[in-house]
Amino acid sequence: MKEIVIYGNEVLHIPTKEVKEFNGELKNLIDEMYETMYKSNGVGLAANQIGVPLKVAVIDVAPAGHEGKVTLINPKIKSHSKKFILDDEGCLSVPGLYLPVLRYQSISVEYQDLEGKKHIINAEGYFAKAIQHEIDHLEGILFVERFFEHFDVEKILEDNKDNEEAVKIIETAKEIYDKIRKIKNK
Ligand code: CO
Repeated sequence: MKEIVIYGNEVLHIPTKEVKEFNGELKNLIDEMYETMYKSNGVGLAANQIGVPLKVAVIDVAPAGHEGKVTLINPKIKSHSKKFILDDEGCLSVPGLYLPVLRYQSISVEYQDLEGKKHIINAEGYFAKAIQHEIDHLEGILFVERFFEHFDVEKILEDNKDNEEAVKIIETAKEIYDKIRKIKNK
């Protein structure tokens, strides 16, 4: 099992590189990613989360009680629904924090397999959410950034200032977001 990289490490905050060589090394990377994901009780893992800046992500949402498993190499969202879903997300690279994030309800994604062959996968609901979370990772984007993009966080804080638990969560998210922005503005 590989060690999971935590937010603040640059490898998580810059876009990863396209995979061009489909070889045994890639196969080993994917095996290590699945092992690390399952042992960490995650439902998805991007290669940069173990420090490898390549466009590879593994997803298996079965541990969360849903259906969907795929290994994505060089994935691209080709089309998506107009409808969004809103649900809490967490991330192995941001331990202990859960925030609501808007995602497309359904997506169509083009990707390559281990041999470099192109495929299309259609996904919806929880599985689609997990795929979008991982594709974001490959672009150097964390779910915390999506939360700030989608919501007026200062207003939420003001409107909920009596809710101690909510304030604590949002203050934590703000600290993480500020740290990411500092890295990205360097
Ligand atoms: Co994540």
